[in-house]
Amino acid sequence: MLITFEGIDGSGKSTQARLLHAHAEEHGWRPLLVREPGGTDLSERVRTILLDPEAHIDPRAELLLFAAARAQLVHEVIRPALSEGRLVIADRFYDSTTAYQGGGRGIAEASWLRSFHQFVTSNLRPRRTYLVDVPLMVAAERRGSTERDRMEGAGDEFFEHVRATYLRLADAEAGRIVRLDGTRPPEVLHTDIVRDVERLLAEASVGTGTAASG
Ligand code: ADP
Ligand code: TYD
Repeated sequence: MLITFEGIDGSGKSTQARLLHAHAEEHGWRPLLVREPGGTDLSERVRTILLDPEAHIDPRAELLLFAAARAQLVHEVIRPALSEGRLVIADRFYDSTTAYQGGGRGIAEASWLRSFHQFVTSNLRPRRTYLVDVPLMVAAERRGSTERDRMEGAGDEFFEHVRATYLRLADAEAGRIVRLDGTRPPEVLHTDIVRDVERLLAEASVGTGTAASG
């Protein structure tokens, strides 16, 4: 089963992905935690290019580089793990492309991107996506004053579009995407997520504590 975490930079989604991964390990769900862009040699190299504040990248090239990193990760790592019955937890997946390149950069329609994502991943869909939603100010505070990567330097208007696109996506795909109020404490969010994942695993007829097939 593939579970993904989404949200703007600083929303707290990596914290939730890590907490779920730790919980899943403790419970013998054989989890695999991956982050995007990254997770393979090629994808990490592409990540370095994409996040380099000095790089000048055309928005269409940016879309294709994120997609290239994802295609490699899906085919080299995620698919094999799913076929071994593991629970794959992804810190970002294709909804990030819809929100950042589609919404933030404004270079592609959501409907076109839907087909594009299916092409890139060979029709892999997350069983569940948690959208950790916080206002921009909260995310900016959480990011603090650490050095900004290329994407984080994009500015408030960009992130307003990213957030709005995420919220529209969550409305359009309410069966898959669960919107969480990310201003709540991490443990509270984690408890809600674990309860939901346990239900999904039970639905998939996989005993919690045994395996988590894809
Ligand atoms: P993201 O992966 O979305 O960029 P992180 O999970 O790395 O965000 O969290 C960014 C910062 O916010 C970290 O310092 C983290 O400890 C803190 N944080 C994460 N979740 C919460 C939360 N629910 N409430 C308050 N602070 C949080
Ligand atoms: P990262 O440091 O992993 O940010 P975070 O901790 O917030 O996930 O950087 C990834 C950046 O790349 C982040 O700004 C979101 C952006 N991104 C896209 O623009 N499109 C994508 O498809 C993906 C996966 C990420």
